[in-house]
Amino acid sequence: MATLPAHRGVKAGRVAPAVIAHWVVKSTRRSELIDWYGRVFGARVVHDDGQVTFLTWDGESHRLAVVSVPTVFRYLFPLAKLRRKMLGLDHIAFTVPTLEGLLEDYVRLRKQGIRPVWAINHGPTISLYYEDPDGTRLEFQVENFPTPEETAEFFAGDEFAENPIGVNIDPDYLLSQLRNGATQELLRRREAGVRPGRKIVANKKTLNFKTL
Ligand SMILES: [Fe+2]
Repeated sequence: MATLPAHRGVKAGRVAPAVIAHWVVKSTRRSELIDWYGRVFGARVVHDDGQVTFLTWDGESHRLAVVSVPTVFRYLFPLAKLRRKMLGLDHIAFTVPTLEGLLEDYVRLRKQGIRPVWAINHGPTISLYYEDPDGTRLEFQVENFPTPEETAEFFAGDEFAENPIGVNIDPDYLLSQLRNGATQELLRRREAGVRPGRKIVANKKTLNFKTL
């Protein structure tokens, strides 16, 4: 039997999960979701019987399942898209291996009209938040520090204590600097993503109806 790869903080013999395998949504927007996850994740449908649709984008049998429910549910729960702003699951985060990959994907998606609802350098990560057609929020993040120890050090430091939320960034500006040869060490500074002359929006000021 294949064994799961050792994962940070997870010890064998303990009831502790190693990886997130998949999530499932009930939705009235099956075809919109298939299209969106196809564009964003490169997802393909592996099973679809009209009632339940399984999608994957890697070696897992399925990463996302969509259970189709009648369209009338959309009208019974008119505020469903806004629920996450007040209660329950807020977002699911995915780690992207490189800053370049994160930003190149940002450009690829922007060209298709898919834009982040929030772009921020949290300090430990640079993060772009997107929302799927149901309003499920997904965070794509790249780690700013090369080791967990350095991230832990940043968490424990004064800069993070003063501003635990981060600084809003302009992904196009960050990418232009990266293409001009700026190192990630330079670009991981939180103000590095703010165009010169633009106001720095930091900490709680980053929070508004759109970003929350
Ligand atoms: Fe997050």
